[in-house]
Amino acid sequence: MITVIVNGAKGKMGQAVVTAVSDADGMSVVAELDMGDKLTYTIQDTQAKVVVDFTHPSAVKKNVIEILNAGAYPVVGTTGLSDADLAEIDALAKAKGLAAAVCPNFAIGAVLMMQAAAQIGKHMPQCEIIEFHHNNKADAPSGTAIKTAELIAISNPEINKALVDRTETHIVPETRGGKKANIPIHAVRLQGFVASQEIIFGGLGQTLTLRHDTINRESFMPGVVLCVRKIHSKTGLIYGLENFLNETE
Ligand SMILES: NC(=O)c1ccc[n+]([C@@H]2O[C@H](COP(=O)([O-])OP(=O)(O)OC[C@H]3O[C@@H](n4cnc5c(N)ncnc54)[C@H](OP(=O)(O)O)[C@@H]3O)[C@@H](O)[C@H]2O)c1
Repeated sequence: MITVIVNGAKGKMGQAVVTAVSDADGMSVVAELDMGDKLTYTIQDTQAKVVVDFTHPSAVKKNVIEILNAGAYPVVGTTGLSDADLAEIDALAKAKGLAAAVCPNFAIGAVLMMQAAAQIGKHMPQCEIIEFHHNNKADAPSGTAIKTAELIAISNPEINKALVDRTETHIVPETRGGKKANIPIHAVRLQGFVASQEIIFGGLGQTLTLRHDTINRESFMPGVVLCVRKIHSKTGLIYGLENFLNETE
């Protein structure tokens, strides 16, 4: 039996994780924690093997370090970790002989969208990303948008190069979005959305659009359960659900 603590258990994602882990074979929720609860003490007290973290970008790094130092495997959906944070987590996980799964998106369709984007990006000279989330999201752009931009730029380091030296007048500042890896990202925050993303590629006389829509939070749960089940077979930082997809349950 894999013993699991859910951190951020009263949150929108945390509640869905408690139900999904409780319903899955071979694993059980041994504690539900939120702001102000004692993470290290609870890990040691319950001997939990895995801690699933869906909390807040301002807390996630401290949480992951605490989880690893207490001897458990973090499975992290919370966004907001920087490249430097990820490097630090990788080093600590290796030093402890543990693994930390950090997945910007646990929805299989979103992972496939990112993989397709990297493939398409090899052959199209330009692209921009538009991500759509509910209006309570704490950070922008989304972790998925950042990871998508990074993957496209790795597969095509020349992407958008033709745009680099263009001068354009911005009548309204920041109208053209923020940039990651030279790819503009536009973040929409509106009631009614859970999480959606479009990647629009442009080429001579043509555009190609990839779009993924998360209809509800249950879409993330098979990915979370898969990571909980498989994380103990890994070491160091595992960044992205795709690293678990070819493993059988
Ligand atoms: N990777 C993915 O697939 C994926 C999918 C959806 C969302 N996310 C991310 O998951 C995170 C949570 O999203 P959500 O919609 O569930 O947010 P939410 O509804 O605001 O829930 C966050 C929960 O965490 C608690 N919390 C905040 N700081 C904490 C801390 N330091 N220690 C323990 N608990 C703490 C909150 O408690 P209080 O209410 O008392 O502050 C709340 O119960 C966000 O970063 C979001 O972007 C990731």
